[in-house]
Amino acid sequence: MAIRPIVKMGDDLLRMKSKPVTEFDERLGILLDDMRETMLKNNGVGIAAPQVGILKRACIVSVDGKTFYELINPIVVKASGRQVGPEGCLSVPGINGDVERPKKLIVDGVDRKGLPVRFKVSDYEAVAFCHEMDHLDGVLFIDKMLRG
Ligand code: CO
Repeated sequence: MAIRPIVKMGDDLLRMKSKPVTEFDERLGILLDDMRETMLKNNGVGIAAPQVGILKRACIVSVDGKTFYELINPIVVKASGRQVGPEGCLSVPGINGDVERPKKLIVDGVDRKGLPVRFKVSDYEAVAFCHEMDHLDGVLFIDKMLRG
């Protein structure tokens, strides 16, 4: 595993739409392992592939540092409720702000072998899922930040 440099705001990469993962090979595994290590090293609760300069639809979420979700080609199949809470981003250092997100989420995707997976998350995990999936479409939390 290796720690990769994090792409920071101002870089056009963060504003681009990522492409679906189509190759479920060793390279994908290395990317995901590196993303995990990079996220942990930077005390993040999530990271998306574009944040390490790879425009692929893959992200990692771990709000407790124990359970690691790997979201590959994720699609929201159900979102319900709402919550508002502070967010930050490894690519947007020094800025935090409130964002409205769904309270509960069902997300379909595939695992690193390409097999289908379904995640049911709520509360802060739902926030992190939404935040990371936004990265795959070039959207940053500051775009959705509520005004004080
Ligand atoms: Co982010």
